Amino acid sequence: MGLRLLAVGAAVPGQPVSNDAMAALVDTSDKWITTRTGIRTRYFCRDEKNADLAYRAALDALIHAGVAAEQVGVLLVSTFTPDHMSPTVACELRARLGLPEDTVVFDLNAACAGFLYGLQTARQLLLASSRPYALIVGSETLSRVLDFGDRSTCVLFGDGAAAVVAELATDSPFYWLGGSRGDAGGFLYCGGLWDKAKDEAPSVVHMQGQEVFRFAVEIIPYCIEGLLQKAGLQLADIDYVVCHQANVRIIQHVVKSLHARPEQFFVNVQRYGNTSSASIPLALNDMWRQHKLKPGSRVICVGFGAGFTWAACLFTW
Ligand SMILES: CC(C)(COP(=O)(O)OP(=O)(O)OC[C@H]1O[C@@H](n2cnc3c(N)ncnc32)[C@H](O)[C@@H]1OP(=O)(O)O)[C@@H](O)C(=O)NCCC(=O)NCCS
Repeated sequence: MGLRLLAVGAAVPGQPVSNDAMAALVDTSDKWITTRTGIRTRYFCRDEKNADLAYRAALDALIHAGVAAEQVGVLLVSTFTPDHMSPTVACELRARLGLPEDTVVFDLNAACAGFLYGLQTARQLLLASSRPYALIVGSETLSRVLDFGDRSTCVLFGDGAAAVVAELATDSPFYWLGGSRGDAGGFLYCGGLWDKAKDEAPSVVHMQGQEVFRFAVEIIPYCIEGLLQKAGLQLADIDYVVCHQANVRIIQHVVKSLHARPEQFFVNVQRYGNTSSASIPLALNDMWRQHKLKPGSRVICVGFGAGFTWAACLFTW
């Protein structure tokens, strides 16, 4: 059974924060950030919580889809920065959106690949749902787990949320791949709970960027080739490839290794920085607003992140 994405919505907090503003916090420069990552601005929450961003994005998507709250049977929120360990963001969101009480709701965490895990999970859950639509949200408040004294991480990430409304569809094939290599080296790590052994609180993101870069440029082509093989298609048959937006240099590397057309690969990391599980739906939202997504457009999305977790899907808009 295929999956059709009907509409997308998004929310970011406050005003864009420039590279120059980051240079006022740590020893960095607009030139370093732009040339090494492509990032020009990002957004950080002040008072807004994860559930506030998720709510705005989800409502936006429902309005764009023309779907009423009582028609939603599944609500999933992908996040690794929820407001609380419990209750979930999804629980709060269900109540605020006025979805039926028996809607299946939970948060899931597959790092920056989480939104794509959400699509696949929602697809399975819709098969058992009495209602036709699923709402899948990627929502992150990374500013709460950033060390604003560590220039090697704080300039890279941002806050944001985006959501899609989806339904099962026999005439809209959906191909999916996912897995996890494991990251025994702890190259990308965020402790979460107070780590007594390390006496580390509050919890912040640690990253050895070059190791993550190497993983990304290997796994993205692997995913794209795997999906094309499953679908019996060539890269030339795909209208857009949407990689997790972590660094423009990762995307350029992949374009070169696949001998692809650069314009096939959508890039908006310059606006938002790396927003983890919000990044792929934020890209879909920008593409939709730029009229790039038309009925029949074939899209490949590829996510990768902590735990060297990865996922990818191919769908028709
Ligand atoms: C993080 C990343 C941009 C760093 O770029 P890089 O070219 O690998 O840079 P390095 O880590 O080798 O650091 C090079 C130098 O820049 C310095 N540097 C690091 N951050 C800096 C900053 N914000 N401003 C200025 N200098 C910085 C380092 O201290 C180092 O200095 P040194 O040579 O004097 O030791 C890059 O490795 C990357 O994008 N990796 C993938 C990250 C990713 O995708 N993460 C998310 C996965 S979900």
